[in-house]
Order: sequence, then C-alpha cells, then structure tokens
Amino acid sequence: MHRQYIDIENPDTLSLNTDTLAPPDTGEITIATDFAGVNRADILQRLGLYPVPDDASPILGLEVAGQVAAIGPNVQGFEIGDNVAALVQGGGYATLAKARADHTLKLPSNIDSRQGAALPEALLTVWHNVFTLGRLKPQETLLVHGGGSGIGTVAIQMAKAWGSRVVATAGGAEKCARVRDLGADLVLDYRSESLKDDFKNAGLAGAIDVTLDMAGGDFTALNLELAAPDGRVVCIGVMRGSTAEIELVPVLMKRLTLTGSTLRGLGMTGRAAGFAALQQAMMPFVATGQIKPCIDTTFPLEQALPAHTLMQSGAHFGKVLLDCRST
Ligand SMILES: NC(=O)c1ccc[n+]([C@@H]2O[C@H](COP(=O)([O-])OP(=O)(O)OC[C@H]3O[C@@H](n4cnc5c(N)ncnc54)[C@H](OP(=O)(O)O)[C@@H]3O)[C@@H](O)[C@H]2O)c1
Repeated sequence: MHRQYIDIENPDTLSLNTDTLAPPDTGEITIATDFAGVNRADILQRLGLYPVPDDASPILGLEVAGQVAAIGPNVQGFEIGDNVAALVQGGGYATLAKARADHTLKLPSNIDSRQGAALPEALLTVWHNVFTLGRLKPQETLLVHGGGSGIGTVAIQMAKAWGSRVVATAGGAEKCARVRDLGADLVLDYRSESLKDDFKNAGLAGAIDVTLDMAGGDFTALNLELAAPDGRVVCIGVMRGSTAEIELVPVLMKRLTLTGSTLRGLGMTGRAAGFAALQQAMMPFVATGQIKPCIDTTFPLEQALPAHTLMQSGAHFGKVLLDCRST
C-alpha cells in the first residue's frame, strides 16, 4: 500500500516522501493514520540524539490513531475499519502505519481519532511508571511534575479517576490554573523561588507517596525530601538535567525507592502487558469521559517541523498532533 511519510533530511529539514508499506506481519495490523502524536523523543531523534533501535522504523513517530486498513496473520479481535490508537515502533509520521495488535487500543465511541492519537504514549507511560513501578494506591498522594505536559495532563486525570490525591507543578500562573482545572488538588509554580517552602507550607514535606518526575536534576533531591515513608520516586525525563546530588540518609530512614523507565526499554512483551492492564483498569475511565485527552495544536503532517518547534518552545499545554489525512 502506498504511503506518504516524513523523512529526516537533516535536523533542520523534514520532507514529505512516498513509498510502499509492506503488508502487516504476524500479529500486526496496518492503520490508515488520521492523526499522529508528537513526542519529545521525536525531537531528539530529528536532532540525531536518539538512536533508533535496530527493530524499529527510522521514520519519526511513536503513536497514531485511525482505522484498521489491513490485518496480519494470527490477529484476533480487530476488524477492518475499527477506530484504533496504537503505539508504533517508529513510522507514525505517515499516512499508513504498522502496529502490533497487542500495542493497539480500540477507541470507545466518545473518543475520535484526533483525541485517540493523544492517548497511547501517555496512557502507557503513566500506567507503567505510576501504577506498576510506583504502585499508587487510591488513598495515596501523587506528585506530578510537568502537570501541563502531554504526559502530566493524562497522569493527573488517571490518578484522580483512581481515587488518589494529586499535587502537581507547572510553569507560570496560567498553566497552573489550567492544571488545577484538570482536577489536581494543589498546583505549585515550579518557577517560584520559594518552591521548597511552598511545598512545606502546604503540609507536603514527607507526605508524597509517589512522584512522577520528568524534571530530574535538582528536583531529585526535593522529591526525596517530600517523599513519605516507603515513598516511590519515578523518573521518566530529565528536563532540568540528567545529574543530581542527593542526600542518602532520607533514602535509608524512609525506605525510599528511586526508579525510572523508558517505554522502548520495556520491550515488546512489557508494552503488551501494560496495554492489557490499562485496557482493563483505565479505558473504562476514558469511555466515561473521566480521562479526556488534552490537545494543544494540530499541524498538517507536512508541518512536522513547526510542530516540533512549538513543543521545543514549551508554550503548549497538553499534546501536539499531526493531521495525516490532509496530505
Ligand atoms: N520515560 C518514558 O517512557 C517517557 C515517555 C514519554 C515521555 N517521556 C518524557 O516525559 C517528559 C514529558 O513528555 P511530554 O511529551 O509530555 O512533553 P511536553 O508536553 O513537552 O512537556 C514537558 C514538560 O516539562 C516541563 N518542564 C520543562 N522544563 C522544566 C523545568 N526546567 N522544570 C520543571 N519542569 C519543566 C514543562 O512544564 P511547563 O510547560 O509548565 O513549563 C512541561 O510540563 C519529557 O521529558 C519526555 O521525554 C518519558
């Protein structure tokens, strides 16, 4: 089947090209892509800073939504025309994409493909890091750094639907207000010079059970200080830096866990297990509207570079998407 896709000519030039996509292999489906999600990893890949694994497509794009266009051998539960969203092994910035069936979610009727494209990466990242590694319980408190990010907006809603208390950080008064509107119980501005005191004054020193941290750097020490006994700090990104100086005594005294992960590092089986679990635990909340994708801007596929520029600027709130139907 013919597809159009975005090719990386160099870090400053992305061009639209055409080729033929082979039929789906065993366990795979082909999706006629309506929309693709833009992720920070795509920007790193464009800049040559994110080596593509051997078993992945070198074409940009890690998540798509659209309709099932072809079904490979040994795939059950999908029919041609089903509305789906999927995590892909690269190749998402394209009019057609192949996905493993067990990395694919059927979209409930209240979620269209634009909203669907905002979900797979965020749902699975939050599921694995907050609920599997972080073991968040309904009565516990979750701290989400980057509450206005594509990941953070979904994390807050997932944890609220789960029944947990949610504290978040965001940059600036406007983003803090929007994160509060999403349901966070308390939002603090990470740009405040008194951030540490702001947490303490809110009674949160030693009170955070699980932290979802995409900031790293100096926030790592803060996270350990805020952690409750037996707290879990889960690092998924390093927006403030990849090195940190930490005080180890609180780790001993409070029996803390500092961990992290990447979705690609989870491997095919780990990702499939995550999708199966979140299908049961979280998709019902998506179907009832308790978890709603938060979309900032949608660019035509051929404007992938301006989409990256917007994400790099940090001006967006929630997800940035590409419309793959217009090409
Ligand atoms: N490990 C994994 O499996 C995995 C999977 C997906 C994403 N990620 C990572 O998760 C992060 C979020 O991804 P995304 O797609 O949701 O990106 P995004 O929408 O661009 O969000 C980036 C977030 O980082 C916050 N931020 C930026 N600079 C900061 C700073 N100096 N201090 C504190 N916060 C800062 C931003 O806050 P404001 O906008 O409020 O300024 C924003 O909320 C990225 O680091 C990404 O690489 C990891």
